Amino acid sequence: MSERPYLRLGVNIDHVATVRNARGGAHPDPVAAAMVAIEAGADGITAHLREDRRHIRDEDITRLKATITRPLNFEMAATDEMIALALATRPNAACIVPEKREEVTTEGGLDVISHQHRLTDLATALGAAGIRVSMFVEADARQLEACRAIGADIVELHTGRYCDTAGAARAEELERIKAGAKIADELGMECHAGHGLGFDTVGPVAAIPQLHELNIGHFLIGAAITMGLPAAVQRMRGDMDKARA
Ligand code: PXP
Repeated sequence: MSERPYLRLGVNIDHVATVRNARGGAHPDPVAAAMVAIEAGADGITAHLREDRRHIRDEDITRLKATITRPLNFEMAATDEMIALALATRPNAACIVPEKREEVTTEGGLDVISHQHRLTDLATALGAAGIRVSMFVEADARQLEACRAIGADIVELHTGRYCDTAGAARAEELERIKAGAKIADELGMECHAGHGLGFDTVGPVAAIPQLHELNIGHFLIGAAITMGLPAAVQRMRGDMDKARA
């Protein structure tokens, strides 16, 4: 695979919908935010339609697909309902994530090894519809090999633990992510990363040469409150470019 591809920034707009849903109604609009993010330099938009619809709703996905001028990365659990919605929506990519109702956010990577048969069927169905299939996993060699075996096009490495730790533990997590990106690349899959990234943590991840895309949401939407969404996206883009140079 190519060395040091351009590193895309996917902006996750879920938490614009979180704020909207706090009061009901239509404000703020995640689709309008997606367009602002694109204008500011986002290469794609990510949205996670959770089973409980706690933030993004079905109509947001429909409107995003109809409106945005960059690829839509549809995050979803591997359920029949979500597979049907993905097939109806035809996003550029579907990123399969584990989902538990009681979790605050996506707390760990998918166990592809244990769900190999189901995920093979899912990857086959989505792939036949022209949707690129991505698996959100921990940077673990066996999980990455299982992703290859089920026919995934992309793996997204979970950076949550790297962001949540400090010092030697963070350095160790970074090494794990680096090793995972290398394995994914050698297995012929496009490698992405995301979860928990912010200005303080993005640089060392953006510098990993095999990565093609970072997906960043909560931090950017939070930063938008004080600095504005265009400035937050532009600063993140700049930090990624600096790390990559
Ligand atoms: N990638 C995946 C697969 C995710 O589930 C999430 C959270 O929805 C993100 C990236 C973005 O994480 P954060 O909102 O912490 O930046």
